Formats: sequence, C-alpha cells, structure tokens
Amino acid sequence: MNDPIFTSWDETHSALWGHQPLRLQHRLHQSPLFSREALADLIDTYPRDRYSLVHMGAPGQRKFWREGETGGLPGAQVIESIAQGRMWLNLRNVETVDRRYRDTLDAMFEELARRVPGFSPAKSTCGILISSPNAQVYYHADLPGQHLWQIIGAKRVYVYPSTPPFVTPRHLEDIALFDVEVDMPYAPWYDAHAQVMELSPGQMLSWPLNAPHRVENLDCLNVSMTVSFVDEPIRRKQIVNLANGMLRHRFGREPASHAITGPGYWSKAVMQKLLRDGAWVKKERAARRAVDFRLDAARPGQILELSAPA
Ligand SMILES: [Fe+2]
Repeated sequence: MNDPIFTSWDETHSALWGHQPLRLQHRLHQSPLFSREALADLIDTYPRDRYSLVHMGAPGQRKFWREGETGGLPGAQVIESIAQGRMWLNLRNVETVDRRYRDTLDAMFEELARRVPGFSPAKSTCGILISSPNAQVYYHADLPGQHLWQIIGAKRVYVYPSTPPFVTPRHLEDIALFDVEVDMPYAPWYDAHAQVMELSPGQMLSWPLNAPHRVENLDCLNVSMTVSFVDEPIRRKQIVNLANGMLRHRFGREPASHAITGPGYWSKAVMQKLLRDGAWVKKERAARRAVDFRLDAARPGQILELSAPA
C-alpha cells in the first residue's frame, strides 16, 4: 500500500485530530479487500468466536437486541439476509483472521503517525460491520479511541460531546466492568448538542475519546469498518475505569479519583488485574449477553429461535 489511505488530508486535520469530530475522505471502499465478494468469502470461514450477529427489534422497540449465529449459511446468503432484515454482523478483530486487513491497518496507522505529531498507538484492531437498511446503533460510548470507515451504503452519525451529562465517569466504569456499551441514558434533547454527519463510501469519521455517538443507517445495506486503538493514556484510563467500577459495584465504594499516575493508580492497576478474570466479573458479564437465535436459510432476513426446532 503505497498510495495514501486518506485522500484529502490537510494541516487543519492534523491540528483537529482527536479534539473534534472529523469527517475525512479515504479510498478503502475501492480496495478489493472490501468488495461484496471478498466480504462473502471472509464470512464463509469466519471463526464463531470472533463474530457477533445482533438482531434488532421492529422500529419503536428500542433496545431490543439479541445475539445469534449465522447457522453456517454461505457468506453471500448471510449478506443477503442482512440486506433484507434488521440485523448487524460484526466481524470482530478481522486483522487477526486475515493478514491483509492487518497490513491495511498498519499502513493506516503509519500514515496517521506521519500526519498527527505524537500519535502512535501501541495497539490497533478493526472490525467489519455489515448492517441492514435503516438499522441503528444506539447511543453509547467506547473506551478505546475509535473511527468509522464507510465502505458500502450510507449512514447518519450523531457525535455528542465527551463531557457530562452526555458521558460521566460512572458510565465509563460500567462499560469497563460489564463489557456492555448500550445502557447509557439518552434523551432526544441531547441531539441539539450533537454534530450530525452523513457518511458515504469513501468517507471516514474520527471523534474525541469517549465521545458518545449513535448511528442510523439510511435505507440501504451498509458495510463499515470500525477501527479501535489504545495508546498508553487510554490504556491507563481503561484500568482506572475498571478498578473504579469494581470499587463501586463489588465493594460499594464511591471512587474518589480518576488519576492515571501515582500510588492510587498503581494499587487500582493491581486490584483490577487480580479481579478482572475472576468468577464475579464473568458472571456479571455473562448475565448481560446470551446467544438465542440463528439465521433462517429458507427465509432471508428472518431468524429462528435457537430453542425452537429448525
Ligand atoms: Fe461505537
């Protein structure tokens, strides 16, 4: 990859990156790695433990999310089901499944390191999100740094300020502890404070760390790539959020500090390391996620209950 991935970068973007929501032009939608055929091939052999398939309720049934499986359908049929249904498929950590996506991600971050002084995250991952016409991603915030790259179709993205009341330390603690991003309170009046941007193929969106956002697909199949990255300050904030969430939920103590240096930080780092893989955290997380449907081969866009006879 010798051609630049960002095709319209100028020095204002270097100054604004990470501080303001930014919509920029890119060329990944023209790459053969992101054609519908290449995506179908990818789905054909995608490991079960690396994807999430989520079915959404009918319009108006907010927060009706369920997790399911593709049921071994060929990738082309999975994409067709999504095109006709109300679902999204997240091919998580695609850079670990196919080397070519890792190379693309590395090229992207090398380019960003050249363009944004001091920006060189130690860790980056990406996922490919295939979602139905009019599907929504509800209001939420993410702990890692994130951007969204539009490949096929179009969507409208609302980006809110990364400050209270839109996001509070307690929200970030809950995300770190329970591994679920969608329980943040949202009110329609928040939208008056959002930046609202439409994304078409060849556009990407970057926003400040932890800025809440929500997404509405337009009336077409959507394929996007989500990119997440962690540098040292972000890594330490994640540790503090997890430790403070444990203090609050496991030990009933109101966290007093969000410092990412000093003795308080280091004792939290030790505590969360001791507890994070333990039975209590596993139980709390499992209670918030369960797989209960798979795609119906005979009826594209429809699902079968996993407990029901196929
Ligand atoms: Fe997100």
